[in-house]
Amino acid sequence: MVTGGLGYIGSHTCVALASQGYRVVILDNLNNSHRAVLDRLERITGQSFQFVEGDVLDQALVASLLEEFDITAVIHFAGLKAVGESVANPLKYYRCNVEGSLSVLRAMQTGKCRTFVFSSSATVYGEPAENPMRETFPFNPQNPYGDTKAAVEVALKRLIEADPEWNIAALRYFNPVGAHESGLIGEDPQGIPNNLMPYVAQVAVGRRDELAVFGDDYPTRDGTGIRDYIHVMDLAEGHVAALEYLTTEGGYLPVNLGTGQGVSVLEMVTAFEQASGQTIPYRVAPRRPGDIAQYWSDASLAAKTIGWRAIRSVDDMCRDTWRWQSSNPQGFKEP
Ligand code: WQD
Repeated sequence: MVTGGLGYIGSHTCVALASQGYRVVILDNLNNSHRAVLDRLERITGQSFQFVEGDVLDQALVASLLEEFDITAVIHFAGLKAVGESVANPLKYYRCNVEGSLSVLRAMQTGKCRTFVFSSSATVYGEPAENPMRETFPFNPQNPYGDTKAAVEVALKRLIEADPEWNIAALRYFNPVGAHESGLIGEDPQGIPNNLMPYVAQVAVGRRDELAVFGDDYPTRDGTGIRDYIHVMDLAEGHVAALEYLTTEGGYLPVNLGTGQGVSVLEMVTAFEQASGQTIPYRVAPRRPGDIAQYWSDASLAAKTIGWRAIRSVDDMCRDTWRWQSSNPQGFKEP
């Protein structure tokens, strides 16, 4: 079962699962995703997906689906992920992300499925004392969104201590970007994109006039923020690798999913211009509150444990994003 399976990372993970022969049940409340994605998934994979419209907070619904479809594992994406919104509305984030995750876990506990892959985030680390970030770094989230990911991870560790029957991986994403190579699915944020890549893509396709670069006075090689961007299909394949790891290894595995490389804002803009052939006008704007100068992952634990590493380049990320955005200028909106 993939909760949030019609969302950005969830939908790409469904493609990766289907390509490895998994039968997938998608639970999604369509709050931040589009029903049209289901047809795109079937076009890409040639497979049908069982789709249930519903909310992970409905524990009885989750329990009934686990039993009805004899679910062997749950990959839990369903949740809210806008940092700025979480600062403005923390209770909404605690309810959706923490209570939602606990609802799924309680539903699983009433049944027999004990394999759980959790969509976590590098924001659990907060401002790093140093780079690259390792899984042994302490939790130090700096916003309610990061709080929710750390809170669920703490609960998962306690759950394993109480009942070693559970097999759990907490995947800490760095910065997911890109789109499936078909151009049929990709990132389609509601409203004005918070994140760099969808904003750049919307400038390139003419939906936005220019990019605001949030600060060029950071202590980095070109003054702009540095992040560890990872192609969403690498991320998706990381979930399948984690699932396969959990079929033989039990316990609790927190693991970074990143490339181990940092890329600056201006480097990403240049890469996107080269990949798309479009000019990305930008202006330097004040720093965004809460942003940190630079962070990137130590990705070695994923290679050692789940036998996975990112293989797609920054150019792949930009070319695939451009193919998606240029063939879907308005995203998934029904025409
Ligand atoms: C990247 C860089 C900005 C937009 C967030 C969440 C994280 C994860 C990914 C959920 C920064 C700069 C951005 C713009 C810009 N989400 N920027 N102009 O903030 O690293 O991470 O999204 O898991 O949890 O914290 O990603 O893409 O917003 O910013 O200059 O219009 O681009 O300052 O340096 P971020 P981002």
